[in-house]
Amino acid sequence: MTSIAIPPGMPQYDDVPRFDVARVRADFPILDREVNGHPLVYLDSANTSHKPRQVLDVLAEHYARHNANVSRSVHTLGTEATEAYEGARAKIAAFVNAPSVDEVVFTKNSTEAINIVAYAFSNASLPAAASAATDERFRLGPGDEIVISEMEHHSNIVPWQLLAERTGATLRWFPVTEQGRLDESGLTDLVNERTKLVSLVHMSNILGTVNATSRITARVREVGALLLLDCSQSVPHLPVDVVDLDADFVVFTGHKMCGPTGIGVLWGRAELLAAMPPVFGGGSMIETVRMSGSTFAAPPARFEAGTPPIAEAVALGAAVDYLTGLDMRAVQWHEKELTAYALEALATVPGLRIFGPTVPVGRGGTISFALGDIHPHDVGQVLDSLGVQVRVGHHCAKPVCTRFGVPAMTRASFYLYTTTAEIDALVGGLEQVRKVFA
Ligand code: ALA
Repeated sequence: MTSIAIPPGMPQYDDVPRFDVARVRADFPILDREVNGHPLVYLDSANTSHKPRQVLDVLAEHYARHNANVSRSVHTLGTEATEAYEGARAKIAAFVNAPSVDEVVFTKNSTEAINIVAYAFSNASLPAAASAATDERFRLGPGDEIVISEMEHHSNIVPWQLLAERTGATLRWFPVTEQGRLDESGLTDLVNERTKLVSLVHMSNILGTVNATSRITARVREVGALLLLDCSQSVPHLPVDVVDLDADFVVFTGHKMCGPTGIGVLWGRAELLAAMPPVFGGGSMIETVRMSGSTFAAPPARFEAGTPPIAEAVALGAAVDYLTGLDMRAVQWHEKELTAYALEALATVPGLRIFGPTVPVGRGGTISFALGDIHPHDVGQVLDSLGVQVRVGHHCAKPVCTRFGVPAMTRASFYLYTTTAEIDALVGGLEQVRKVFA
């Protein structure tokens, strides 16, 4: 890795233990394979990350040795499975510095986590709920406002559009600047006394922008609204501390952070989760059930109806162990260097236009671009023929494409196993694309 000058204002991580990327790569069996006769160059980790042997082994071991349902069996296997499941919850709580383990709700993914919050608002806003002891903070109706941004993933747009339709509330949003940053110039107008919820992405999955949220958080507190942060792209790549972020809800997903698919997390402040109505009804989420009605368990069980993704949660615990072992500051720094290297290298490609920040400050290792007027699908196909895996399309963030006047983008995204040689392969591949479409 070439060393880069640390731009002024960036943390000087002199004390951060660095890792040897070759040793890290040896943990990921898939990185050995070839694609179309070329060594695999995987630059699609924002889409999903690969899994180290340490996680794959725990997943297999769970099914091979400890498989049973959780929270309902008194036998030995049931106890082992419950301990492993709850142990994973504790690891994840510690990973994001959650004040209480009960603030970690297991979900299927970030999308489900966001929808749980949206439907909690919805349920609290039903006419029948008005007479019940429903917390006013979750009640929405005409005149109330929900605020998002133009750089959200569809999973942080559509649930709020649907909620606004169901309740008569209004959806508003922060625009995005030409540099791909959040435009906060209208903050005091946008977040006002009518605002009930602000839901923002922490790191954009398409522009790579990392949003500094402190000004927005202060304003949210001033007007008494709630704040949800979509940390799907930040938790895997940088140290995230829910106390420091001062959010009310934080969501993230396991498969982008070396864990399996099918497991995600909704973190919520204990007091808020306790005030939140349930969304899914079924086994495990109840206190008591009578034919005339039911009462509900305390969080997190209240939001985990039915048999949960047990092995997936346990394996996510193993992923958290793996990342903690490397040190998330070291992961962040590795990607910071890669991003600086890639931004410099991509700037040498004639006709290439980067969407989003072009400096390695306030951004992560996800870089979207256009190559002249060559269609991203063509770019992706030529790169694939060379073994280079990038994502092309709208990246589930169509409003960002619209903002920048393109139907689609090509995106390269890095992770802890990415090397500068792979970025060189990308740049070489783009030269090949230019030749093919010259
Ligand atoms: N959110 C995933 C991505 O950005 C699917 O590719």
